[in-house]
Amino acid sequence: MNGLMIKALSFAVVLILATFYVVNSMNIDLSDPINMITMIGAIAIAVITAGVSVKYINQMKSDTADGKLAEENWDGIGEYLNELPSGWAFSFLGTMIWGVWYWFIGYPLNAFSQIGQYNEEVLAYNKKFEATYKNPSVSVLKEMGESIFLVKCAPCHGTTGDGLSGKAQDFTTRMSKAQILDIIANGSNQLSYPMGAMPAGMVSGDDANVIATWIASGMKGEKPVAFTACASCHGEDGKGMAGMAPNLAEYDDTIIIKTLEHGKKGKLGTMPSFKTMLTPVQAKSLSAYIKTLK
Ligand code: HEC
Ligand code: HEC
Repeated sequence: MNGLMIKALSFAVVLILATFYVVNSMNIDLSDPINMITMIGAIAIAVITAGVSVKYINQMKSDTADGKLAEENWDGIGEYLNELPSGWAFSFLGTMIWGVWYWFIGYPLNAFSQIGQYNEEVLAYNKKFEATYKNPSVSVLKEMGESIFLVKCAPCHGTTGDGLSGKAQDFTTRMSKAQILDIIANGSNQLSYPMGAMPAGMVSGDDANVIATWIASGMKGEKPVAFTACASCHGEDGKGMAGMAPNLAEYDDTIIIKTLEHGKKGKLGTMPSFKTMLTPVQAKSLSAYIKTLK
């Protein structure tokens, strides 16, 4: 081993020690196989770089070459008339052919789109998902709903569905009195029920107050007389006449699925639409889960 090699390997050892120092001070766990493999890779790179550099530096000192020199030379630096190494020549040709293929057939001129591919894959996956859960049992739906809820809904509605102190809908009650008063005063037309829009200001003052209190308390006790103004659309029992208008008594599949599809701007704030983010089974599972929250 010559002096140069000893110096190079010492440098590699310094690099390795420095790497260990950094790994140690960052508390990286080397019993984790991924970290260990990365560490072995770092050591190998240091040793191989040192060894290969020394080999070529030594070779440059003593190497001679023969063959016929080209006539041109540049400031005394000449060029041998050697054949191209065939491996290099074939790789060069291959790269050119691949380049033409890539530009005209593969990407981008053939209009390949990564986003398009992603969308196609999501569609195919969703189809498979819908087929797998064609007739899910209620307990499967509730479980599925809970896991989707924790990821997509809990950031606004809270992990227990309590609405994080009024930041979003509290699912332990149907609607608060303030929300109902707001809808009575301003009407609403965003969920696409067959009844269409809910007109603004059909009742006001005491009547509105009495109705809102009665609905918010779960429609228990005597029905206020003024509720006749509402019954023509929401039904005598307030349950929405089988999906023609929202069920005011409790959460049902229709209100939840319509809210997921259209989103909702209300007194509490804006609920975003999840139209493209949930499959029908997933929306149904959220409904099944939300109904368990009261
Ligand atoms: C003309 C039919 C009609 C009448 C009358 C009507 N509503 Fe509505 N109501 C609707 C429709 C349709 C919606 C859904 C609106 C939407 O798409 O945003 C609705 C929505 C609501 C909501 C919101 C439900 C939710 O979860 O978003 C409340 C609360 C409500 N109505 C209360 C009342 C009360 C109280 C009265 C009586 C004063 C009343 N409505 C009268 C048709 C009506
Ligand atoms: C960015 C915050 C946010 C996220 C995320 C969110 N919501 Fe909402 N949601 C709201 C707000 C705010 C309201 C109340 C709107 C109002 O003022 O009436 C609401 C209301 C609702 C309502 C009541 C609609 C009605 O008319 O009674 C339902 C049902 C609902 N959300 C379901 C969900 C589900 C299921 C998810 C998860 C897929 C979800 N939300 C995710 C903010 C959010």
